[in-house]
Amino acid sequence: MLVLSGAKSLLARHILPVLRDDYKVVAFDDDKGAIDDADFIREILEESNPSIFVNCSEFSLMDDCEFYREKAYAINGFAPGVLADICAERDILLIHFSTPAVFSGDKDYSYSESDTPQPYTVFGDSKLLGEKKIEQSGCRHLIIRVPDVYGGKDSFVHAFLRDMKNGKSIEVIQNHRKNPTYADDVAHVLQMLLDKNVEGLVHMANPGDCTIYEFYKKAHDLYEKTGMKHVDFNVQEIPFDEFITPVDYPINSLLEPARLKHEFSFTPDTWDRALERFMTQHAEELSA
Ligand SMILES: NC(=O)c1ccc[n+]([C@@H]2O[C@H](COP(=O)([O-])OP(=O)(O)OC[C@H]3O[C@@H](n4cnc5c(N)ncnc54)[C@H](OP(=O)(O)O)[C@@H]3O)[C@@H](O)[C@H]2O)c1
Repeated sequence: MLVLSGAKSLLARHILPVLRDDYKVVAFDDDKGAIDDADFIREILEESNPSIFVNCSEFSLMDDCEFYREKAYAINGFAPGVLADICAERDILLIHFSTPAVFSGDKDYSYSESDTPQPYTVFGDSKLLGEKKIEQSGCRHLIIRVPDVYGGKDSFVHAFLRDMKNGKSIEVIQNHRKNPTYADDVAHVLQMLLDKNVEGLVHMANPGDCTIYEFYKKAHDLYEKTGMKHVDFNVQEIPFDEFITPVDYPINSLLEPARLKHEFSFTPDTWDRALERFMTQHAEELSA
């Protein structure tokens, strides 16, 4: 038996079908009960007696975290800690997802599991608190850090193509380096890690290095290549210091899947190959 929270999250919608192949699953979202409600969590674990808890709940809006600090720390920091304490009492394996925002972004290349976190944002700091609380609880745990994830029928790739089809232009931060990652690939890596009883901290990303501009350019070119109708490419890069946001986004949020490569001899598809696979699999919705 496996319990999953944040059932409506983008990631959960991709990992649930994969997990359901191997486990009986009870999945809930905050309309049923909150991750920061310890009584509710105890109750659901008492009822279902799982061996695994997968936490996909998160207060994920980076800008909002700056204004609603208390909520950010409650959901992303303290709630995973309480959850971990309960998992330790009941010997439940806790799977938790985290983010490259725990790093400063100052490094010149990808962050691996051995790099020291130093978040600059409330979002990153609250997520790092969650990681630390889980590690300190002594529960069996697997923390998977993933970068920007896309997938499903409402991804940021769909939103981008919709904007291009509607003749809109969009602005992106110049030189903002990322490795956007296909949610299906995260799901299959989770399945592999569970099969191998892996615990600790693991980075998962479709490797390689692209700016947001390059990612959208590739999505645009693939859209045209797969025989869909022509749309103009209206994307402008804006220098970082001209972008007005409440948060200084880390300019480098690249993750190196070092443990996957070195311990498990597994290298995920590069970001461009994964994007091509995603666009082929979702061609019908993308062309609509
Ligand atoms: N998507 C990405 O690009 C990305 C990148 C890096 C890491 N991750 C990690 O992957 C995990 C899932 O992220 P996601 O982007 O897929 O999430 P998401 O789509 O933003 O969804 C978050 C989910 O958490 C639920 N939630 C919020 N507050 C809650 C509470 N108090 N109790 C219970 N549930 C609550 C939300 O429900 P409501 O919608 O009803 O509020 C929503 O279903 C997170 O741990 C995140 O750090 C994701």
